[in-house]
Amino acid sequence: MNAPEFTENDFLGFYRRLTEAGEQWWRVTIGDRPHTYRIQHGMGNTPGDIDLVVDAENLRAKLKKWHREGFVPDAAGAHASLGEETGDASVAFMSELARVSAIYRDGKWHHSECRDKSEVPLPATVFIGRIAFACGAGHALVPRINPAYLFSSRFDDIVLDILENKRVMLIGHTGAGKTSFIEQVAARARYGVLRSNMNGQTTAGDFVGFWTVKGGETIWVDGVLPTAMREGLWLIVDEIDFAEPSILAALTAVLEPQGRLVLKEKGHEIVEPHPDFRLFATANAVGAMSRFRHLYQGANLMNEAFLDRWRVYRIDYLTPDEEADVLVRTLAPHMTRLLADTLASIAAECRAAFLREDLSSAFSTRRLIDWAELMLRTGDPERAAEPAIYAKVAPEDAAFIRAIVRHHIAPNS
Ligand SMILES: Nc1ncnc2c1ncn2[C@@H]1O[C@H](COP(=O)(O)OP(=O)(O)OP(=O)(O)O)[C@@H](O)[C@H]1O
Ligand SMILES: [Mg+2]
Repeated sequence: MNAPEFTENDFLGFYRRLTEAGEQWWRVTIGDRPHTYRIQHGMGNTPGDIDLVVDAENLRAKLKKWHREGFVPDAAGAHASLGEETGDASVAFMSELARVSAIYRDGKWHHSECRDKSEVPLPATVFIGRIAFACGAGHALVPRINPAYLFSSRFDDIVLDILENKRVMLIGHTGAGKTSFIEQVAARARYGVLRSNMNGQTTAGDFVGFWTVKGGETIWVDGVLPTAMREGLWLIVDEIDFAEPSILAALTAVLEPQGRLVLKEKGHEIVEPHPDFRLFATANAVGAMSRFRHLYQGANLMNEAFLDRWRVYRIDYLTPDEEADVLVRTLAPHMTRLLADTLASIAAECRAAFLREDLSSAFSTRRLIDWAELMLRTGDPERAAEPAIYAKVAPEDAAFIRAIVRHHIAPNS
């Protein structure tokens, strides 16, 4: 059987396998010279015993070999040294941007997205960060893997809770990474995900189910909760602090690990939870985040008895170092560490201003990535910031952010 074809981005990361002697890994990062890769080998947390620089062809051969030997790719661990630049750190942001955006526009780094997935054997277990996680059977609703996603070691406890079928609520500011964390665990472990947002028109009927007439017949349509429970999907109840009481009542019934749902409207039919079913909630202003309630207008307070049925984790924005890693990984090989560090500092400063309430708009990782991507295309941070940032916020916020950007980047340098 042929090993799968990888794109350049896909090379980067950790390849792991479990042996009787412990976990063995190979790590692939970008080499110092163009088109080279650095590969390192090690056991568990022991630093590498092999450290080589190879070209793409050589690496491809190694990938085939590791693939045959049972190594499984886990892109999450590569952040430690990914994108480290060996160049002169004093190079000005603008000249660095001019250099990489010329390459970006030139398109010579562009790689094809296609690869033959049919050849990829599906592992029974994957590593999510440092946790070995049993894979599901797959489903049409399995999210797409974001290879640039970074599983911080802070997330290990949450991953264990998911394994142990605990109900997990993630709280934190908008764009901090609550929803994407759950989706990326599910993507790697191949579980289907359903999302239901409570800050909108979601009714108890959408959530639990309803009777309707179809072709002259009255039929029952399951809502997202019984659908997820029966099919073994992961259900994310987004913005749970906006849910109406009847939805919270239905949820309470299934908060115990084996909790069953009684469909009262359907003659008290009992829905048993599939063993793969998992329930998650996200919120911006619950519990420890309640002091920010005024920033999230309309959020309800959740009572403690309800919260006690969840493990509640606070998800903070990534640290500037982590966020710079994510930028490099997402926009590799165009994004360099020098640019990423500066951009991550700008985001951190905007967030500090948001928490001081000098800014009324949050600065999400999503926004930062979008701005950075457009900046690579235009070679102009200000022009890129117009559609990615300034046009989305109030004029006084735009002026405030522009001042932060100018402080970090001298656009005319
Ligand atoms: N650890 C991470 N690694 C890589 N990208 C990340 C990470 N965390 C967040 N992101 C990026 O930030 C984006 C926003 O994250 P997400 O949608 O999960 O935020 P959220 O906390 O659910 O926000 P909201 O409260 O607005 O729903 C993601 O799509 C992803 O691109
Ligand atoms: Mg979300």
